[in-house]
Parts: sequence; C-alpha cells; structure tokens
Amino acid sequence: MKIGSIIHGKTYEDHHESLINVVDPYRKETIAELIPANPDTASRAVNDSYEVFHETMKHMPAYERAAILRKAADLLEKRRETFVETITQEAGKPVKHSRAEVDRALQVLRFASELVNHFTGEVLPMDAASGGENRWGFVVHEPLGVIGAITPFNFPLNLVLHKVAPAIATGNCVVLKPAEKTPISSYKLAELFHDAGLPPGVLNVVQGGGEVGEALVNHDKVHKISFTGSLPVGREIRAAADLKKVTLELGSNSPNLIFADADLEYAAEQLVTGAFAFSGQACISAQRIYIQDSCFEQFLQLYKEKTMQLTTGDPREESTDIGPMITEEEAERAFTWIEDAKAGGAVVETGGTRDGAVLQPTIMTNVERNMKVIAEEVFAPIVSVVPFSTTEEAVQLANDSIYGLQAGVFTQNINRALQVAQQLEMGGVWINEISTYRQDNHPYGGVKQSGIGKEGVKYAMEDTTNVKFIGINHRYSS
Ligand code: SIN
Repeated sequence: MKIGSIIHGKTYEDHHESLINVVDPYRKETIAELIPANPDTASRAVNDSYEVFHETMKHMPAYERAAILRKAADLLEKRRETFVETITQEAGKPVKHSRAEVDRALQVLRFASELVNHFTGEVLPMDAASGGENRWGFVVHEPLGVIGAITPFNFPLNLVLHKVAPAIATGNCVVLKPAEKTPISSYKLAELFHDAGLPPGVLNVVQGGGEVGEALVNHDKVHKISFTGSLPVGREIRAAADLKKVTLELGSNSPNLIFADADLEYAAEQLVTGAFAFSGQACISAQRIYIQDSCFEQFLQLYKEKTMQLTTGDPREESTDIGPMITEEEAERAFTWIEDAKAGGAVVETGGTRDGAVLQPTIMTNVERNMKVIAEEVFAPIVSVVPFSTTEEAVQLANDSIYGLQAGVFTQNINRALQVAQQLEMGGVWINEISTYRQDNHPYGGVKQSGIGKEGVKYAMEDTTNVKFIGINHRYSS
C-alpha cells in the first residue's frame, strides 16, 4: 500500500525515490510506504484549500456542514473495525485502546455536528456606554480560512479529528500533516470525509516530516497552525508562525495527588491505566504520583501488585494491556532514563526491563526532583511514586514543573479537593479521577510550557474563528 498526499481529492505521488517505510512497531514489518510530499506539494495543497475556502466553504450553510459531519460519524461507525485495526497496526496500540480511540473519535464528530447549528455570536448592550444609545452591536464568528494541522502518532485518529472536525464545523479548510509514523488513519479519514460529501480541497493531506510541516507554518495563506507534539517543535512553530494564530498542545509530566483519606484501592487501580495505557504515550499520562506519607507503603504495595498483573505482548490480542512503544529507539531512550535515575539512587520497584520496543511498566521510588524520569516528559510507561506530608507540600511538588496540562487529585474531602484544584497550575484538574482521563467535550490545553489555546470541540471551534463586530446606529430620522 502506498500512502501519498491528497490534494483536491486526488492522490499525489511525487518524490517516489524517497519512500518512507511505515512499520508495524510490534511485528517490525513494513505495512505501507509513505510518499513524502515536498514543500512545493505542501504549497499546492494550501493554495488549493485557499481557493476552495473562498469559492465553497466560506459560503456553505451550517446545516450542510452539520450534515457532512453527521454522515462522517455514521461512516466511521460502519468502518469502526477497519480504523481499530489500522491504529493497532501503525501505532502498536493494544486493540482495546484502539477501540476506545475510535469510539472517542465518533463522539468528536457527533459533538461537532451537533454544535454547528448552535454556535452563536452575541448581541451587545451598546447603551452600556454613554453615547451608545440607539445603537445595536452584533458579535459574529467568521471562519479563519485555511488551518494547518500538524498531528502526533499517539492518537492517529482522534487527535486528528480534534483539529479537523471543529475546523470544518466553523467553515474552514484544513491542510493536515499527520505524523509520518502513523499516516494511514489520516489517509483513510480523508477517504471517509470524501464519501461523506465533503467537497474536494476542504481537507487536503500532505505526508512527510518536518520540512512539510515547516512549509505549512511559513505559508502566508495558512491562517492558523494547530499543533500537537513536543515542546521544542512547539517553540519553533510559535517563533516561525509570526502573526498567525496558533494552538499548541505540548508536553506534560502530569501529577496525581493521593491523600490519606482517599480510596487507595480505587486510586491504585485507576493509576495503573493512568500511567501505563498505551505505554504512557499520552501527554496527560500519570507520570508523577504524590502520596501522603502515612499510606505510602500501603499504596505502593497495592500499586505494584496491580501493575504486575498487566499483560504485555502483541497489541492485536484482546488480552494485551501493554504493547510496544512507537519505536525501539524510543524504548531505548526511555530505558536509559531509568538507568540514569538508578545510577543517581532511584529504585525500580517493578519493571525496568526492555525487550525490543516493549518497555515493561516501571514504577520508581527514591526519585530526585531533577531526574529526567520525573522532571521531563517521559512519554513511556514509567511512573515515579513520591511521598508528601502536608497539603501545601503536595501542591508545591505538583507545581514544581515547567508543565501544567492536567492533574488528578484523590481525596474524600471536598473542601481539600477544591482548594487543591484552585492552587494547581494546570489547564485542567480532575477530582477522584486520573490525570489521564479526557472527555472530548471539555476544554483541553495547558498552562506554562504545556501550550497555548484549547481543544475540546466547542473550544477548538471558537479558536478557529475570527470574532467580528458589526454595529448599527438605528437613530430614527424622518
Ligand atoms: C494527548 O496525548 O495530548 C491526548 C490525550 C488524549 O486525548 O487522551
């Protein structure tokens, strides 16, 4: 199977000489060949979307956009298993997690289709200002034009839809550059939208690596860049984007705080998923667990027992909890972080071994605040468990990070929960829920170096529009 760029409904097959193998991370077999675009192809894709925006999309009524998104959801429901297989194959995601991803993607499409017809502006009270009598003011949302979407490997369907569905809902065109390791889901998604009646050029897909993304960021007909990925790349995009709008969903080392009055059994159970689902390759994966010292040992014991029950192996098997990381190099990189921490005195409580791309779920204690496994985004199945004594200390430890995306707080005391939630420097806080839990309709996006802007369908829709003011002076004169 060859995966090329899709422009105006046609597959482009330039740069044949430099095909990139798309590799199944578990079986290490080539499952497709990617035909990378060059910057000229990326530019052609943008110019096409720009024209389609002005000729078609800008004028498409809300009910038509809603109908296309609804049809896309119906088709995704029908093609569910194809997408599940694709995600498992290209990302190495255990099949039960791939299924959860497709189900979430379905909801994203449905939220977007429902919100289109309810996405409103405002009427302003113009007489709030003296001299504003006899005036009406309207606030309307207008689509931006062409959105450049650059997406990561870890949710090759749902994180793509988090950018594409809201943009279509508000009447934009999108030029999408999916991760080069997981391009097949996007390719199939473009086909699906075509079958759902989306006009050619509204969603163009350009395949390839950094230079293709760069071409989108630098193109003057791209009005906004929406990027999910690493902090260093996010910084480069922000610097190069000049006056374009940007949404940046970057990294995190998400903290989870467990107080002595919490249901420890429940917290331990949830945090097994929270730290290890898809081998920790999610921005909000639980990377730091702070546990009140009086129950540290009890929690650690429970947590280790539950973690050791996880089944590692072939992601195609229904029983597999932990599959491979995206590449062997990534697993090796994470493994060396464990080794560095051990050399500095950290203790591996369970896991800590690697077999090819599969890194065993690893719990560490005795971790110092400046060790990479806790200070940087680990993006691997590694979690550090650290004791605290007071609420103030727990908050201080959790906030001791350059990141601030999402946190979890476990306690039975609602006053403490709300107090801590207020004090955490985060884009989102869950109470009695893991940091890793994300529902696709809540605002999602970090503070500090975790990013800029919000996703979550309604919030992404707002971010894909210009707010325009229209005023009328309706003074009657005869
Ligand atoms: C992410 O890794 O940023 C996305 C996590 C999710 O959508 O569950």
